[in-house]
Amino acid sequence: MQNIQSYHEAFLNHLNTFITPKEPTSLYNPIHYIIQLGGKRLRPVLTLMTAEIFGCNYKLALDAALSVEVFHNFSLVHDDIMDDAPLRRGKETVHEKWDLNTGILSGDAMLIMAYQLFENYEPKIFQDLAKLFSKTALEVCEGQQYDVDFETREDVTIPEYLKMIEYKTAVLVGAAMKMGAIVANASESCQNSIYEFGKNLGIAFQLQDDYLDAFGNPETFGKQVGGDIIENKKTFLYLKGLEFSSADDKRQLEHLYSVNPSDPTDKIDAVKQFFISSGSSEATKKEIENYTNKAFSVLNSVKISEEHKNALRAFGNDLMTRNV
Ligand code: IPE
Ligand code: IPE
Ligand code: MG
Ligand code: MG
Ligand code: MG
Repeated sequence: MQNIQSYHEAFLNHLNTFITPKEPTSLYNPIHYIIQLGGKRLRPVLTLMTAEIFGCNYKLALDAALSVEVFHNFSLVHDDIMDDAPLRRGKETVHEKWDLNTGILSGDAMLIMAYQLFENYEPKIFQDLAKLFSKTALEVCEGQQYDVDFETREDVTIPEYLKMIEYKTAVLVGAAMKMGAIVANASESCQNSIYEFGKNLGIAFQLQDDYLDAFGNPETFGKQVGGDIIENKKTFLYLKGLEFSSADDKRQLEHLYSVNPSDPTDKIDAVKQFFISSGSSEATKKEIENYTNKAFSVLNSVKISEEHKNALRAFGNDLMTRNV
């Protein structure tokens, strides 16, 4: 088994072969822009790692890994439109750099390209990958719709929030790993356990994303800090903040989430203050740890070596302490 760095490098080499100039450039340039903007590449690295953990050469999983990353980038282009986000990975979002129509169509093309990459696999693997992909992609759409619906709902519950992040984010992390297992011809029970591991890690990952959206360092975070607060996103931070507040504070926090000022600075500062004083920021950190540990406990029943389990645990611990 290689280290994370070498999977990352191998993946980037493969990604570069995917990026060839094509007409119309107004469709393909934005695709190449977003894909080459960087990012942590954690999903494709997980696909490659999982393939090797289940006994196959990671190189056979490169197209599956690329598919996952292209799909992820498609979802980001459309997500940034939906969230009215100006920044991605420290640079302008696609719809800001070009326009809305470009973001829509380039995103659509990426979704198709992601499916197309499965054609490089033999029929049985192709079918299993495509089946998992279709299910996952639909769930991501459902999660994204809940996320938007929740912006204007005032009765969102924590279980509803958890379901929403499971769908919009965690299932893709699970699927990235299961695809590695599929390419490696792992047993169905191994495929399902590794999916559960990835899904729980993905829930922790989205909780951390929400935390960083409020408390990340604007110099290094790469996205607009406070974006979720501006958009009135019903995150764990917000929902726990309400739960932990007195009736008076609760009313104030709800009021802050009902206004959309043209300069959001004061709103962001006041909401963050609530997140801290109510104890919800601490509760969020605790929940990130809980879901990471839940992922680790799934590992106990997976038939892989202790060395491989340690590598996956190290990956999970790194995610928990990340700041981008
Ligand atoms: C951002 O994902 C979207 C979420 C699901 C939270 P990443 O944080 O993996 O984004 P990049 O690819 O590293 O930029
Ligand atoms: C993104 O959730 C989930 C998907 C892209 C499917 P967010 O909206 O929180 O992701 P960021 O914070 O913009 O990266
Ligand atoms: Mg977003
Ligand atoms: Mg979003
Ligand atoms: Mg976010």
